[in-house]
Amino acid sequence: MYNQPMEEKEMTDLQLARLAVEALENAYAPYSRFRVGAALVTDDGAVFVGVNVENASYGLTVCAERVAIFNAVSSGHRKVARIAVACSNGQEVFPCGACRQVLHEFGPGMKVVTLAGDEKVSSYSLASLLPHSFGPQDLQK
Ligand code: THU
Repeated sequence: MYNQPMEEKEMTDLQLARLAVEALENAYAPYSRFRVGAALVTDDGAVFVGVNVENASYGLTVCAERVAIFNAVSSGHRKVARIAVACSNGQEVFPCGACRQVLHEFGPGMKVVTLAGDEKVSSYSLASLLPHSFGPQDLQK
């Protein structure tokens, strides 16, 4: 689907969340059976997706959000405006703590979009999910 960046200037939160749902079909989650999809839009309107990728060595698992971020960065997009997250059980899911930290690196002002059921979209500032954050600016003091 969005292996290549795609320009989407007018993507709504619901549309972004639906891309996350589409993506989660490709999740590789044979151990937890908990499939997660993420879809992000960059400041310049490019869209990237990610899924969780598990491993027989469980600790090597990478979450969907980080895969989406790494996809964007790999294509030269370092400023993320919004990221939507959806999971296979249809309940609202939030990025884990490690992912919040990685998201902060590439968009401290970004919004995190969640989906519950088919249509209930909510939007949170990353800053509200990761208060008193540590980031690149802290290394410049
Ligand atoms: N997981 C994600 O991909 N994103 C989250 O926000 C929470 C957890 C994945 C990691 C693992 O593959 C599975 O969900 C169960 O923890």
